[in-house]
Amino acid sequence: HDLGVVAVGFSGGQPKPGVDAAPMALIEAGLIKQLEEDLEFNVAFDGQVHSYSEILPADDPSYRNMKRPKFVSAVTKEVSEQVYSHAKSGKLVLTLGGDHSIAIGTISGTAKAIRERLGREIAVIWVDAHADINTPETSESGNIHGMPVAFLTGLASEEREDTFGWLKDHHKISTRKLVYIGLRDIDKGEKKILREHGIKAFSMHDIDRHGIGKVMDMALGWIGSDTPIHLSFDVDALDPMWAPSTGTPVRGGLTLREGDFIAECIAETGSLVAIDLVEVNPSLDEHGAGDTVRAGVSLVRCALGDTLL
Ligand code: ARG
Ligand code: MN
Ligand code: MN
Ligand code: MN
Repeated sequence: HDLGVVAVGFSGGQPKPGVDAAPMALIEAGLIKQLEEDLEFNVAFDGQVHSYSEILPADDPSYRNMKRPKFVSAVTKEVSEQVYSHAKSGKLVLTLGGDHSIAIGTISGTAKAIRERLGREIAVIWVDAHADINTPETSESGNIHGMPVAFLTGLASEEREDTFGWLKDHHKISTRKLVYIGLRDIDKGEKKILREHGIKAFSMHDIDRHGIGKVMDMALGWIGSDTPIHLSFDVDALDPMWAPSTGTPVRGGLTLREGDFIAECIAETGSLVAIDLVEVNPSLDEHGAGDTVRAGVSLVRCALGDTLL
């Protein structure tokens, strides 16, 4: 099978430096080599961790409460085109972040390519401690990594071309085809949005109640079989015991095995078209950086079909 890899060394969707170093850390841990040698993927990778410094705007003041709106917009537009061109030619796409704002690029690129290639709408499985569905107005932080789902679903929009106005209908996804897993830190405004739009979400409470096996049956049942799936995996979905090196850790999360199990179940569907791994920040909790990177490598391997037996 053909796999396109995009390495996005970007931290502009939130204030902590270091998340831009994750793609290199994951690659140095052997991720791409393992995908080629152990999982026998035919990998297309330009060999670069993109930093997009050439599109860094000279002046980028906050706008509608968004921090660095022009830079995040320009980078995600570029990422969207990179992911689109892999997905358009039928490749599975792996994007290594970077903070979670990059999902504005990855998911819009996948949505557009799958519409054109298969005439289908994608489903998104968003595995995260957070819902990342703030609009610029509901966000308490102004950090755009807390807003990608709002822009992707059209709950937030902006006319200005240089501030996500480039996102057109063909880039967007339906709130009905979105499923969350692992939630445990949702802002007040986000709760209202999730409730009002009837968005399917499995919180840590649901996982405790039903077990991860039943939750995955319900999550995949909601999507329906044969729907192309984009998996966006924020490493902070895992408990900080397993993945401490991340910008917004929240205790009470998934075990390492629950995370891998989610990825394995999605691999089993045979419908995965793209995966993002985001928010690994090796410079935070340096003792835990090795564990966090290894967890990331394992999640990607599982999502791409590595099996235990
Ligand atoms: N909800 C908070 C905010 O809007 C935290 C978001 C954390 N997002 C993430 N991708 N880690 O700022
Ligand atoms: Mn998160
Ligand atoms: Mn919070
Ligand atoms: Mn996130």
